[in-house]
Amino acid sequence: MPDLIEHLSDYSLVRLLDIGCGDGAVTRRFVEKLPTITRLVGVDRDPVALDEARDCLQGLEPDVDCTVLQANAETLPFPDACFDAVLCCDLLHHLADVPAALGEARRVLRPGGVLVVMEIVADVQSSAEETGRDMHHLKAWVDRVMGIPHGESFSAHTVLQSLADAGFVIGWQERWPSEPLDPAHPADAEYIAGERSYLEDYLSFAEDSPDYPAIRRAAARIFHRMESRGFARQPQLVLIGRK
Ligand SMILES: C[S@@+](CC[C@H](N)C(=O)[O-])C[C@H]1O[C@@H](n2cnc3c(N)ncnc32)[C@H](O)[C@@H]1O
Repeated sequence: MPDLIEHLSDYSLVRLLDIGCGDGAVTRRFVEKLPTITRLVGVDRDPVALDEARDCLQGLEPDVDCTVLQANAETLPFPDACFDAVLCCDLLHHLADVPAALGEARRVLRPGGVLVVMEIVADVQSSAEETGRDMHHLKAWVDRVMGIPHGESFSAHTVLQSLADAGFVIGWQERWPSEPLDPAHPADAEYIAGERSYLEDYLSFAEDSPDYPAIRRAAARIFHRMESRGFARQPQLVLIGRK
């Protein structure tokens, strides 16, 4: 995060909106590194995540005035131009309507305000990252079977084009890879076994779906690759878009 924070420090950001804040852990890390932020609003559609975010963000007060509320990214309940910065971390591929959400993010930003996007992308550079991407896509498939909007990750090009189409000017961008896990290394092998067992449990949510046999076949291929070649979490594209 250091480069991102250094670039954001130039903007003297005070009011931050985190859309799809989840459990608030990323929001908190972000705000702790940017001491100019004194007003924070986190929104998410999921009430369980919001309870976790409330707990997680409590410690930021009294230096930061925090509000956490349920809202839909595509129809934000805020007036125009009331935030200096909007953060979207791993949100875009969860949305049913990306242009509507980016339009809303732009509407609530003041002129010159910044949109910070951190988004896992489908462009991979190693077989370890490919396995990480395929694991994520498998989980997204199970979510869709359960009726939860969760698409496959976009290419970096698609993310950049979506922001440009929404009227943002891209100021800075970086690709953040993650450390590959090696099945020959005992600590990594243990972690990989834990990931596999988590995913096994997750797949069972799709048991009654007609897609289940195909999901199981895809899972068997991914598990084999995890244990023979290891995996790395998908890379993230991180960028600053200016209104
Ligand atoms: C992968 S999680 C990311 C959470 C957090 N930003 C992070 O990076 O840890 C995606 C979050 O977006 C939320 N979300 C998905 N679609 C949404 C929507 N249309 N409006 C608001 N939140 C949404 C989900 O509930 C989930 O908490």
